[in-house]
Amino acid sequence: MKDIKALVAQMTLEEKAGLCSGLDFWHTKPVERLGIPATMVSDGPHGLRKQDEEGDHLGINDSIKAVCYPAACATAASFDKELIGKMGEAIGESCQHEKLSVVLGPAVNIKRSPLCGRNFEYFSEDPFLAGKMSAAYIQGVQSKNVGTSIKHFAANNQEHRRMSSSSDADGRTLREIYLPAFETSVKEAQPWTVMCSYNKVNGVYASENPWLLTDVLRKEWGFEGYVMSDWGAVSNRVKGVAAGLDLEMPASGGVNDAKIVEAVRKGELDEKLVDLCCERILNIVFRYQENAKPETPWDKEAQHAFSGQVAADCMVLLKNEGDVLPLNKADAIAFIGEFAAKPRFQGGGSSHINSFKTTSAVEAAKGLNVAYAPGYSVAKDEATDEMIAEAVKAAKAAKVAVVFAGLPDSYESEGYDRTHMQMPACQNKLIEAVAAANPNTVVVLHNGSPVEMPWIGKVKAVLEAYLGGQNVGSATVKVLFGDVNPSGHLAETFPLKLQDNPSYLYYGGEGNRTEYREGVFVGYRYYDKKDMDVLFPFGHGLSYTTFAYTNLRLSAKEIKDTDALTVTVTVTNTGKRFGKAVAQLYVGDRESTPIRPVRELKGFEKVALEPGESKDVSFTLDKRAFAYWNEAIHDWHVETGDFTVEVGASSRDLPLCDTVKVESTVELPRHYDLDSIFLDVMNDPRAKAVIDPFISKLMAVFAPPAEESDAAKEAISEDMGLAMLNYMPLRGMLSFGANAGPEEIEALLKALNGN
Ligand code: BGC
Repeated sequence: MKDIKALVAQMTLEEKAGLCSGLDFWHTKPVERLGIPATMVSDGPHGLRKQDEEGDHLGINDSIKAVCYPAACATAASFDKELIGKMGEAIGESCQHEKLSVVLGPAVNIKRSPLCGRNFEYFSEDPFLAGKMSAAYIQGVQSKNVGTSIKHFAANNQEHRRMSSSSDADGRTLREIYLPAFETSVKEAQPWTVMCSYNKVNGVYASENPWLLTDVLRKEWGFEGYVMSDWGAVSNRVKGVAAGLDLEMPASGGVNDAKIVEAVRKGELDEKLVDLCCERILNIVFRYQENAKPETPWDKEAQHAFSGQVAADCMVLLKNEGDVLPLNKADAIAFIGEFAAKPRFQGGGSSHINSFKTTSAVEAAKGLNVAYAPGYSVAKDEATDEMIAEAVKAAKAAKVAVVFAGLPDSYESEGYDRTHMQMPACQNKLIEAVAAANPNTVVVLHNGSPVEMPWIGKVKAVLEAYLGGQNVGSATVKVLFGDVNPSGHLAETFPLKLQDNPSYLYYGGEGNRTEYREGVFVGYRYYDKKDMDVLFPFGHGLSYTTFAYTNLRLSAKEIKDTDALTVTVTVTNTGKRFGKAVAQLYVGDRESTPIRPVRELKGFEKVALEPGESKDVSFTLDKRAFAYWNEAIHDWHVETGDFTVEVGASSRDLPLCDTVKVESTVELPRHYDLDSIFLDVMNDPRAKAVIDPFISKLMAVFAPPAEESDAAKEAISEDMGLAMLNYMPLRGMLSFGANAGPEEIEALLKALNGN
């Protein structure tokens, strides 16, 4: 390993400043006289978008032929860490083959609203799931000695005004919802690089935000790699260096490099900070170079087949009335909808991959008794009467009609948001017509984010295939005909309508400011708290077999917040086919001072089971599983009390529930003063003991004992008296007859504060 510090010491200030921005769109700068090579980075995340010639970051110019895997909207639904790890390995191998030092992904931003144009690239509305899937992907890629760039750090949850908007959220919301996927990935998988986002966070550009890039990312989480900017995300480069932004991408024609030099010369920027950026960049440059294996083979055909396997394991069977699926291979089947012949399998923008081949469902169904009618035209966004008539005819002639529908490219993409949650009207019309012609209608969906389904009551089954990569056609046919048993589960809630979404009123914000006013109540955290009906809940996914969850065992009924709790359940395949269950564990605080969700995902495992087979699944819950972010102590805190531990097949199908008492080992600071109210004092066991004697005096006034005044007792019971006292400030003791003078109260406050 090179002595990086010694190398940096030999560089001129100009060379160092130069190294802090890209050579071109995709390379870091070389310093030939010192043997520092240029290294190449490339999008990402679900395959390679390596551009050979003209560079751009919007997927406009061609890139090399590669393998397009399912996008994150799909892979998250697999709930399968091992699978996404293997996908990462395959992508890592292709990076080695193509001499790429870093693949730009995974993208882990939280799906705050179904409208975000980039939801297809993101994993989930849930930070725990997003973090675990991301960590598995990173470990997979990096096991091949190439880096990842987890993005977009942070709170980049809309495309609208993405380069100027400020995501304004309180500390607890950031810590509990928008940061943990990054945190888990850094702590568990140590990505080689992090990509900061375009937006501001609480008024400060992510690219020059010392709190994000240094305090949280490096000091708290221990990130060791380099931070690069999203493409063009730099506003003030000098502030960026000071904040911990190592590499500006792509480059600013030397302008920002010169500003760094000038700031150092003027004494406005410590040269040591520039050195640090260089060291971090060079560590990764050489880590790649010393482990480069360009001789690594890239078997695209094998990866094409593998991408189909991944896609099949991501598909979510949302509805299957009367077991209309799986289809029978002997039956006449109609595939209707242009997506059956030309699937939408990836999203638009920087992640767009130039697939070396694609397999549609129509192609994959060759040899089966499957007829095809296009039904609608994606390019024209229309379904003519003739197209519908042809589709209806095909549907009538078939035992089962399968409509392939969803969102065309123009409806969702990087760079802009959706304005509604509907599918194209022509497709909805087609589904209605087909369902009226054939009672056995199935809908296959290709979309990157939830859609409204006005026809849901009229179709027998819905298979959510998401954007399943270039081999999605074979995967779909395998799942439809039962060669693969669907095992995906929703990584996001499908609300009944857009207006139900918690961010609905505030999403997009006003001007350049988006306030995250729904706080921690994102996705199911909100729908569950409000006990709302949804179209399909978070975690939902059916199978062609059935599973039973039994025998919930907790390693203890009472623990301290420093202990770990082991939770074990038995999952049994009670049906007749091999299948994979996703055991999901949720934790909820039964009673809490902070306003908290009813339940939060804290564990999940995918379990493969033969018919009749049972397996035990264990989860380990540590302090974090019970904690909320406490801004006062600037740390995670568990409030002593009872917590529910629920296990089952979705956030709304949780047959197993038990309770564990968790005791806090942390004393929260006490700040009682004259304006503190009795309720807060009495809820704190340490303070209650101190105040109790005064309470009886006050109660004599608020709810006099019966013998003294029968009339008063009738008017105010003891409970009522206490209830009224609850909201009185301590200073009330001066006025309401606790016989306490100022000195006594002073002493009381000291005692309450533990002094
Ligand atoms: C995107 C990033 C991408 C970069 C390079 C940007 O527009 O936001 O996700 O990695 O371009 O293509």
